[in-house]
Amino acid sequence: MQNKAIHHRGLTIGQIATRTGLAPSAIRFYESEGLVHPFRTDGGQRQYQRGDIRRLSFVMIAQGLGFAIKDIKAVLDRLPENRTPTPADWARISRDFRKTLEARIDQMTALRDRLDGCIGCGCLSLKTCKLYNPADRINRNGAGPRYLMGDRIIEDE
Ligand code: FES
Repeated sequence: MQNKAIHHRGLTIGQIATRTGLAPSAIRFYESEGLVHPFRTDGGQRQYQRGDIRRLSFVMIAQGLGFAIKDIKAVLDRLPENRTPTPADWARISRDFRKTLEARIDQMTALRDRLDGCIGCGCLSLKTCKLYNPADRINRNGAGPRYLMGDRIIEDE
């Protein structure tokens, strides 16, 4: 009987914090950033829909992966605000977010695979730099660690 009552009444910030592992201060911060939209009871108490657990879990993981709050908000803004998102809602935003995730995975894979070699940053500090980036010629493609940014090695002219 208890679970059914909570479901209808909504969840308190304490219950959400316990289930998500987020601090209440973090949940209030996400609310102030427009990432979650609690409602107020007649008594003025802030309460959350059960579906907000998924929303906040998404925020927590996406932030852990280094996504900026504004980018996470852009994704979540596509979910309905005043009802629990359906699987179709989540599938829709998941399709779009997948491209961003795959780009991030490519970056991380490049970092993992290239970190012990020349990353084309211009330091010329590794033996492999002489081979892969003689005289820092990759710099003609622009600033930054070019090989971690997806640039190909410039062949001998
Ligand atoms: S690692 Fe910096 S230029 Fe090669």
